[in-house]
Amino acid sequence: MKNMGYRVEIGMPIGELDTPALLVDLDVLTQNIHKMAQFFSKSRIQVRPHIKTHKCPQIAELQIKAGASGITCAKVSEAEVFAAVGITDILIANQITGPAKINRLTDLAGTSDLMVAVDDPANVRELNQICQEKDVNLRVLVEVNIGMNRCGVEPGIEALELAKSVQAASSLTFLGFQAYEGHLVLIEDPVERAEKVAQAFAPLTQTIQMLEGVGLPVQVVSGGGTGTYDLAATKTPLTEVQVGSYVFMDDTYSRVRPDFSPAIMVSSTVVSRPVPERLVTDAGLKAMSNEFGWPVLLGEDRATMNYLSEEHAVLTLDDPQKSTLKGGDKVQFLPSHVCTTVNLHEKFYVHQNGALVDIWSIEARGCTQ
Ligand SMILES: Cc1ncc(COP(=O)(O)O)c(C=O)c1O
Repeated sequence: MKNMGYRVEIGMPIGELDTPALLVDLDVLTQNIHKMAQFFSKSRIQVRPHIKTHKCPQIAELQIKAGASGITCAKVSEAEVFAAVGITDILIANQITGPAKINRLTDLAGTSDLMVAVDDPANVRELNQICQEKDVNLRVLVEVNIGMNRCGVEPGIEALELAKSVQAASSLTFLGFQAYEGHLVLIEDPVERAEKVAQAFAPLTQTIQMLEGVGLPVQVVSGGGTGTYDLAATKTPLTEVQVGSYVFMDDTYSRVRPDFSPAIMVSSTVVSRPVPERLVTDAGLKAMSNEFGWPVLLGEDRATMNYLSEEHAVLTLDDPQKSTLKGGDKVQFLPSHVCTTVNLHEKFYVHQNGALVDIWSIEARGCTQ
């Protein structure tokens, strides 16, 4: 056999790509982006997608082209990546503490339209002091805990007091609230989901009225996710939604939101079938995350994942006579959690109708700081 070498070329069939590889179906991705944009096109609510799902400037640009007002990031280092390509309307929906990160944040605030979340008066003082020293202004959202019990002050008087302290800080501008209902986004029953979302946001609505009563206008209320986006206008006071997963979807979210379609798969190669019922492929924990459950092998109804080790997926074929899979064959997995799976890869192999059309760098992967 003549060895012609392995080259990745635009136009090649994706089945010929070496594995593990993260495959993105451009048509499905585009449909998902437009579906979300369309849903909010006549709404007062803005779409500010969370880049935690894709970590990729090309995809953020597609979202903005479809009408997104800006982006949401979790980390300063992520915001730096997107600001460097000219996306400047950025919410960091987390608290940024400690001098190293606040210095990076305030450097970025000098050149971008940043917003950041706070939930602590000491953090407000620290942010204000460094902004003053650098002569920059930083826009701030007070994070309110609406039941997720992660970050955030309690709604009511605590939120009001913190908002007042931001308003009083000379180099900070109080814009409103951050409130994420992450504990509700995966509720499968739509009626229960809607009821719980309405209950969770009710104390925040009252808090907003309290602020307005004392002359503190609330311009921005940011939160929401793929599981709850359609409730934003009717059950919440949100002015913008931070939807992330809808662009790609995954096995977990597909059960909650069949209105968006999976656009991402992990391509893998069978490396061994040592006995008829055991299938071993080359995509392990370095290629697929498992904190939301096992990734799903597509095209084999009766396959059960036994475990993922670093470099291997080990499955049992419950009906081994029906499967012709053998060493060298390609298979595809649907991730159980797309955001952490994407973080394991450097590139998206973008395809249309089975042919490679582009390769996008996952520029903000590993941006943990
Ligand atoms: C603060 C915040 N906003 C929005 C999202 C996006 O959620 P989803 O992927 O459900 O759309 C997340 C996801 O973890 C989040 O942490």
